[in-house]
Amino acid sequence: MSSEHSFWHARYQQQAGWTLNTRRYIFGQIGISLDDRLIEVGSGSGAVLESLARDGYAHLCGIDLDLAALLDAKIAHPNICADGMSLPFSNASFSHSMCHFFLLWVSDPLIALQEMARVTKPGGWVLALAEPDYGGRISCPDALERLADLQTRALAHQGADIHMGRRLISLFTEIGLEDIFVGIIPAQCGGNAQPNAFLQDRDILNRDLAGLIDQEEFEALVCQAEKGSSENESMWFVPIFYAFGQVPRDKTG
Ligand SMILES: C[S@@+](CC[C@H](N)C(=O)[O-])C[C@H]1O[C@@H](n2cnc3c(N)ncnc32)[C@H](O)[C@@H]1O
Repeated sequence: MSSEHSFWHARYQQQAGWTLNTRRYIFGQIGISLDDRLIEVGSGSGAVLESLARDGYAHLCGIDLDLAALLDAKIAHPNICADGMSLPFSNASFSHSMCHFFLLWVSDPLIALQEMARVTKPGGWVLALAEPDYGGRISCPDALERLADLQTRALAHQGADIHMGRRLISLFTEIGLEDIFVGIIPAQCGGNAQPNAFLQDRDILNRDLAGLIDQEEFEALVCQAEKGSSENESMWFVPIFYAFGQVPRDKTG
């Protein structure tokens, strides 16, 4: 795996760790069983699928546009290079479909969700397991707020829908899912529970902000931010939403 891919895989594994407990809770609530056929759309290097395989889910399938990421994935299940907006499966091929940090990046999230619903059997669930909303972020003190603001702008510039979290409910409603639940991944946002939240994101920030801010200013802001962090005065938080809804049982007649 190239060092670039290792960097992203490590990042995706970290994110899959943030959402692990919520994922297990949701799967338990809606009764996803180890024998169900599950598809993850936008599965990237397979961090979530790896985690599901460790939990014992046996019938997994990953789809992504990025062939190099798929080839790097160290997983035993099918990993298919395809567009999430035109899934190469017939209707009702899977028990449930899911995505994780995907809808904010796809060019038309409504079509992607419609495709997920189409390939899910009636009565199965469509799950968006993690979609952030950068409009709801909280960062303090000032140095962190400035870095956060720059990062949000950089992500928008890279093509992310920075408000995807808040859009989930309307998207799920629009595609006709039933029994829709929407929530926010519980997070510890500071103090002893999460003293290094900002420091964990430093490398990502450095990449996101390249070209937007000169290195000297970046280092100065990071230095102030690290001081705030070590003195337990900082907060670095982005709400991450999830949603799940059921494909109507009479969808295919
Ligand atoms: C932030 S990554 C998340 C990867 C994985 N879901 C995870 O959480 O570890 C978003 C992924 O969506 C993929 N993606 C974006 N648009 C896509 C599309 N139209 N069809 C399939 N995958 C797409 C990207 O290639 C990338 O791998």
